[in-house]
Amino acid sequence: MNRDDEKRNRLGQRMMLRYPTSTRINHWTMALSFILLALSGLAFFHPPFFFLSHTLGGPVWARILHPFIGVLFFLLFALMAVSHAGNNLPIRNDVRWMKQIKDVLANRDEKVPPIGKYNPGQKLVFWLLVLCVPTLLITGVLMWRPWFAGYFPVTVVRIASLLHALAAFGAIVTIVIHIYAAIWVKGSFGAMIRGFVTHAWAKHHHPLWYDDTIKRERPRPDAKTPIKRDDPVA
Ligand code: HEM
Repeated sequence: MNRDDEKRNRLGQRMMLRYPTSTRINHWTMALSFILLALSGLAFFHPPFFFLSHTLGGPVWARILHPFIGVLFFLLFALMAVSHAGNNLPIRNDVRWMKQIKDVLANRDEKVPPIGKYNPGQKLVFWLLVLCVPTLLITGVLMWRPWFAGYFPVTVVRIASLLHALAAFGAIVTIVIHIYAAIWVKGSFGAMIRGFVTHAWAKHHHPLWYDDTIKRERPRPDAKTPIKRDDPVA
């Protein structure tokens, strides 16, 4: 039997792996750097938010560190985006799932079309970030003084700073929605903290991903205890 399937939670439910350790470390480092970037960025954006510059040790340090943390954030995001892109491609059932959002919200599972590892809302968040994060990097480099800004005409730097603010606004709103959804769907925080979800959670929220994972983890011919599709503890 697969090592991950042997894991059970306190209630004896079988657990399955959703995020390996490397993905979780990447995600939480990215989340922390995003929070620092958002707070220090708001401090530069408008005087009432100036006090937020203290999150990075005051205005001078905030100005120095913000772009470096931005580059780190971009690299971490790029790693995550590359490994998650496949699971965020739209599938036919996504449209039906969206149309039946009332059944989804009312937990009427029998009526809801099965979806894969991510639901259409999560996919939308993913692609919005794929749009905003590279925009933030490119426009950030264009206005990064004293290293790069001097190489570009002042109009380019001005347009870059406008686009930077728009992309930052888009990313912050998207991440607030992302956090709200993570709190709202019970069990998803556990997935990103401990890495595991119960079989029941996976079947309920992401049935096609559940089926695929179970198929992939079907016992090898030499395994002694086969995994049953409808194991009562799942
Ligand atoms: C404090 C802030 C954050 C919290 C509480 C949070 C929470 C979570 C949770 C619980 C999941 C697992 C969802 C599931 O598997 O169903 C997740 C997945 C994910 N998070 Fe976050 N997150 C935060 C910040 C971020 C940031 C800043 C980014 C990127 C800029 C990000 C990008 C992602 C991505 C790409 C996934 C995988 C889902 C997908 O590909 O659509 N998260 N997050």
